[in-house]
Amino acid sequence: SETAHHEFERARWRQAPRRSTCGSPASRFRDGNRPPLRSRHIFLELPTLERERTLFLVKPDAVQRGLAGEIIKRLESRGLKLVGLKLMQVTRPIAEKHYAEHKGKPFFEGLVQFITSAPVVAAVLEGTNAIEIVRATNGLTNPLKAAPGTIRADFGLEMGRNLVHASDSPTSAAREIKIFFKPSELVDWTRDSDRWIYE
Ligand code: RTP
Ligand code: MG
Repeated sequence: SETAHHEFERARWRQAPRRSTCGSPASRFRDGNRPPLRSRHIFLELPTLERERTLFLVKPDAVQRGLAGEIIKRLESRGLKLVGLKLMQVTRPIAEKHYAEHKGKPFFEGLVQFITSAPVVAAVLEGTNAIEIVRATNGLTNPLKAAPGTIRADFGLEMGRNLVHASDSPTSAAREIKIFFKPSELVDWTRDSDRWIYE
C-alpha cells in the first residue's frame, strides 16, 4: 500500500495544475488557485495550493485508548479546519463500503471486524493540500515504518492497530465523505485565524 500511495502521489502531482479547487473564499488566486506569472514548468516543481477536504477517522483502538482528543488536536494545531466531526458506531454495511477497495484481500474480514468493534470519531478536515497533509501527519500504514513524530509512530506498534485513517486521493475523499457524513452535517464556516495560517 505504500507503493500504491507513492504511485498515487506521482499521479496527483502530474494532475495538479488541471484540478479545480473547492472555491474557498479565502483563496487568493483568481484562477483555480494557480499562482499568476509562473510557467507550467516551474509550477510543477512547487507544492500545489489546493484547498481540499479529506475524511479522517480516529479508529476504534485510538478511541478505546482515550487518544481521540490528542489525535484531533494534532490536526487542528497544524492548521487544518474541522468542517465535520462526530462519534459513531460503524456498521458492517458502512465498513464494507468504506473498505470496498480491499474486498477479497486476506486482511479484509479482520479490517471490517476491527472498524466495527467499537466507536470511531469521524471528521472532515479542510485545508491547503489537506489530503496529502493528513496522510503525512498519520505516517506510513505500518507503524514500524512510520516516521517518529507521526501519529502512527508515536502511538502505535502494529499495522492492524494503526489508530487512524485518511483518504488517499481527491476521488477517495469525495467518496468517503459521502459514506460518513450527510451534506447537512458539514459546516461551511469562516475561521478568523485563516489569515495567520494562509499566506
Ligand atoms: P487507511 O486507509 O486506514 O488510512 O490506511 P492506508 O491507506 O495507509 O492503508 P490501506 O492500504 O488503505 O489499508 C487500510 C487498512 O488496512 C490495514 N491493512 N492491513 N495486513 C495487511 O497487510 C494490511 N494492509 C492494510 C491497515 O490497518 C490499514 O490502515
Ligand atoms: Mg487507505
